Amino acid sequence: MTEAAELPEAPAVAREVFGERFPDAVRYAELLADAGVRRGLIGPREVPRLWERHLLNCAVLSEAIDEGVSVCDVGSGAGLPGIPLALVRPDLTITLLEPLLRRTTFLTEVVELLGLDHVTVVRGRAEEVLGKLPPVHVVTARAVAPLERLAGWGVPLLRPYGEMLALKGDTAEEEVKAASAALSKLGAVSTSVVQVGEGVVDPLSTVVRVEVGESPGGVRFATKKAKAARARRRR
Ligand SMILES: C[S@@+](CC[C@H](N)C(=O)[O-])C[C@H]1O[C@@H](n2cnc3c(N)ncnc32)[C@H](O)[C@@H]1O
Repeated sequence: MTEAAELPEAPAVAREVFGERFPDAVRYAELLADAGVRRGLIGPREVPRLWERHLLNCAVLSEAIDEGVSVCDVGSGAGLPGIPLALVRPDLTITLLEPLLRRTTFLTEVVELLGLDHVTVVRGRAEEVLGKLPPVHVVTARAVAPLERLAGWGVPLLRPYGEMLALKGDTAEEEVKAASAALSKLGAVSTSVVQVGEGVVDPLSTVVRVEVGESPGGVRFATKKAKAARARRRR
C-alpha cells in the first residue's frame, strides 16, 4: 500500500494572503489532503504541493476581480479556484458550479464547515444552467477545458460587460490565438493574458481575461434570443 503523502506546513506568505481566514485555509487544505484524496477528488501526488500549486495559485486570482461583484466558478471540482477566492474575498457573491454529485457533496460540506455564507453550490453543467442562473459579472475557471470550448460554456453566463478569467498554464497565448474567431463570435471585445501573484507564487499565475460587450454569448446567443422572441410573438 502506498503511504499517504503528508500535508506540508503552510508557507509564511499564506498567513498574509488569507489573513483572518488563515485557519479556515488550513482546514480546507487538510480536507483536500484527507477526504479529498480518499474520495478521489484530488490526486495524492498533489498533497505536497497543495499550498503553492492550488490554494495560493487560486487565491491570487483575487487581484483581477473588482469589489463586490458576482462570480461563477465553472467546473469547480473540489473548489478550485472558488474556495480560496471565497476565503480571501468576503465581498464577492460566489456560485460554485459543478456537474458531478460526488464533488458537489464535498463542496457543500466545505462551504458549511467553513461558514462561507457568500457561497452557493449548484450542481449542473454550464451549458445546462444557462438562463436558470442569474448572469454574473465574472466567470472563473481552472483546468476545465481548452479556452475555445470553455468560452462557449462560460461567456454566455456573463452579464453585459462582464469578464471570464481562466487560470491557464504555459499554453495561454496559444489558446488565445486558437480561440480568437470563436471569442469574437461570442461577443468578446478584448482578450488578454495577465499574470498575478507577485511575491506570493513562483511562477506567477497566468490568467486569460476575456471581456465581453453588451451581448455576451454573441451572435449565437442573440440569434437564439431573437428566435425565442419571434416564437413568442407568433403564439
Ligand atoms: C480537471 S477538473 C478541474 C477542477 C478544478 N477547477 C481544479 O482546478 O482543480 C474539471 C472539472 O470541470 C467539470 N466540468 C466538466 N465539464 C463541465 C461543464 N460543461 N460545465 C461545468 N463543469 C464542467 C468536471 O466535472 C470537473 O470537476
